[in-house]
Amino acid sequence: MKPPSRQAAPGPRVGRLIRDLPRIAREPHRWLLDLRNEYGDVVRLPFGARSSAYLISHPRDIHRILTHRWKNYPKAPLFRRLSQLGFGRGLVNSEGDLWQTQRRTLQPFFHGAELERFGQALESETARTIDRWNQAGDLRCPLDLESEMLDLLMRITSRALFGRGLGDLVRPARQAFLAAARDSLWAGRLPTPAWIKVRRTHAQLRARMHEVLADVAAATTQPAPMLHALRHTREPRSGLPMSEDQLLDEMVTLLFTGVETSALTLTWLWYLMERHPEEQTRARRELENRVGHAPPTWNGAEGLDFLEAMIHEALRLYPPSWANGRQAKAADELGGYYIPAGSRVILSQYVVHRHPDYWPDPESFRPSRFLHQGRFRLEPFSYFPFGAGPRHCLGQELAEVEIRLTMAILLPRFRLRFVSSDPVPIDPMVTLRPRRPIKVVPEAVS
Ligand code: HEM
Repeated sequence: MKPPSRQAAPGPRVGRLIRDLPRIAREPHRWLLDLRNEYGDVVRLPFGARSSAYLISHPRDIHRILTHRWKNYPKAPLFRRLSQLGFGRGLVNSEGDLWQTQRRTLQPFFHGAELERFGQALESETARTIDRWNQAGDLRCPLDLESEMLDLLMRITSRALFGRGLGDLVRPARQAFLAAARDSLWAGRLPTPAWIKVRRTHAQLRARMHEVLADVAAATTQPAPMLHALRHTREPRSGLPMSEDQLLDEMVTLLFTGVETSALTLTWLWYLMERHPEEQTRARRELENRVGHAPPTWNGAEGLDFLEAMIHEALRLYPPSWANGRQAKAADELGGYYIPAGSRVILSQYVVHRHPDYWPDPESFRPSRFLHQGRFRLEPFSYFPFGAGPRHCLGQELAEVEIRLTMAILLPRFRLRFVSSDPVPIDPMVTLRPRRPIKVVPEAVS
């Protein structure tokens, strides 16, 4: 194998980084996008004292990092530390043998017929949202769109995964997590008030999950087969059953990763439809033609090509997981530049999904580009909202059906009247969230 090139990648100097700090704190996604546009597909960021970080934006290099040479690129400590705030050693954070065992145990529960469990939970929980929205519409009462989507997804996911709801513990835990993640950027591991709060809310959530596990262990029927399977998994090194702590980490991980990302996709999709009424009308028409008045089902939500294209386009412009970090174990060459061992690499969906070489008119919402009409051809690895390679999203298939079906049920029944027509800025703290509440009044479609 030829040795990697010694050529250093271009990038901003330390002085500029320091000057840019306020902007980095406020809108790191736009800052990274500007750097890509200024310096190209490999940008060196002189962050650490001993090593640098590299922003990597060429599909060929993304393929190399996530797929071809994935073992050379384990998850980067900064990203791991951030999510360790909540997820411990759950599947998102683990590495090596532990990761392999967890992935092998959980994977079967996220494919094919196993997902029907989510279908049943989705249909009954969406019915509750319909009732709530009808009441709110009658009273002209504005609702917070993001909270509505989070609550719905939380109810669906906890019922499908654990066989029961978890009460109102998850939302405070999430808020505390986001505040602590923000603090961890400037305060590291110092015990700020947000850090102390996140510890408290997570302890409460874990105590509730502990009760769920005890219920499952005592139950004679098996409403939560995934938990049952996890309980009988052996730790790779010791050969002992999974510890209670590890099990709780796994449950918190699945709950948070699964709920947050899908709920945000739905939130941004409603928002984009509001700003593009002609696309919304086209999706409604498709639903009327394909589904008629029969309620769509888990398997019956297929064939909605335009709705699917809209979801893809929402995930392109607002990828909930907008940047993933890795660390090079051995030196490598990316795009002709030297990447020293120990360097962190940043792959940003937000940036690559706006790469002008692969996305004509990148900032526009144009779902039809995903219908593969005309001259547009999707370049592999220029679009990776669910990651790629062995560590790609475990819940991709689930999320895709869940989002499509939720929309297929709610869209023909409601129009959402947005209280403000002002654009909603992004808060890119961990996931890509709306920076301000999006207030809507649901209006029943007669
Ligand atoms: C629109 C919805 C979703 C998006 C955009 C999304 C995105 C992602 C991305 C980008 C990764 C890879 C992160 C990396 O490489 O560092 C990932 C991993 C993961 N996702 Fe998702 N996700 C979604 C829904 C879900 C759902 C519904 C679940 C489960 C209930 C889930 C569970 C996971 C898990 C467990 C991993 C870690 C997999 C591993 O490391 O082996 N995700 N997700």
